[in-house]
Amino acid sequence: DEDEENGISAECKELIHGCRKEKGWRTSFLYEFQGFWCQPKEIDAILSFQKHYLAIDSDVILATIPKSGTTWIKSLTFAIMNRNNVPVSDGNHPLLASNPHDLVPFFEYKLYANNQNPNLSILPKPRIFATHIPFGSLSESIKSSDCRIVYVCRNPLDTFISSWHYINQLRRESRPPIPLEEAFDMYCKGVIGYGPFWEHMLGYWKESQERPNKVLFMKYEDMKEDAMSHVKMLANFLGLPFSVEEEKQGLIEEIVKLCSFKKLKDLEVNQNGKSIKNFDNKHLFRKGEVGDWVNYLSPSMVHQLSKIMDEKLGDFGLKF
Ligand code: A3P
Repeated sequence: DEDEENGISAECKELIHGCRKEKGWRTSFLYEFQGFWCQPKEIDAILSFQKHYLAIDSDVILATIPKSGTTWIKSLTFAIMNRNNVPVSDGNHPLLASNPHDLVPFFEYKLYANNQNPNLSILPKPRIFATHIPFGSLSESIKSSDCRIVYVCRNPLDTFISSWHYINQLRRESRPPIPLEEAFDMYCKGVIGYGPFWEHMLGYWKESQERPNKVLFMKYEDMKEDAMSHVKMLANFLGLPFSVEEEKQGLIEEIVKLCSFKKLKDLEVNQNGKSIKNFDNKHLFRKGEVGDWVNYLSPSMVHQLSKIMDEKLGDFGLKF
């Protein structure tokens, strides 16, 4: 599709023409690049990121596969890390006026998109970035520096349903919606942006087991069940633990509330604004629940996907 390759570098064009391709969810094709599935513009941005981004020890990188809680972890990390600059209770808190994606930029959709190579050394430290790139394809300096990575993982049954809704919302009018069954087959084959999902999860999971001070691995479901203890864990991991005084003041609860689904969803900026790639923010806040898949998947689909999860993740102790 000409349009989807518009503006990408000659290097990327040449590269993708040698890659395996499959029908895409939102674009005509997804290409298999460095072992994961991606759109041409994303591949171009990732190439630039891999060439140019230099991590420093104080950087924090939030990693997810799409629709796993990226918006949520961005808001929580931003609130925790900036609490000494902007009190969480401040009526002018940036999270009340800006979508979390505008406060914590993606490498591949913002910083290195459209052939950009911004000078990130001028940003105030500590810097917070986000990415969907699998662990194996992060730049060397991320792995060798002391920067920290936070990974949020979500039950694939829910991530699939969330992705299917989101992609059908974003599709161009000229493209028909993808039927659930067709999307499901692609997902089970691993053909989804940044997938296969099992490889994405395992890359970060293994690293978090080997280097727990480098990668914090959190689950969306656990965060929903007990957000306060996860906020505390996150602050500890980031080297910014809450003081006894802060805990007494109820700061942890305030952060949980500020970043809650309901609070963010109802904000004007998230009802009517646009952020990543100029998409409407409102689609980022659908239900925010655990287990919505029961309303969509047939028993045989649940069986099929659960079997894949078991086969691919079970041996590594990753369960949902
Ligand atoms: P649903 O589609 O199941 O509702 P991402 O942020 O990675 O794009 O993930 C989107 C999913 O996270 C959506 O799931 C969305 O509703 C949910 N979500 C967004 N903000 C959230 C928040 N503050 N708390 C919990 N879930 C949130």
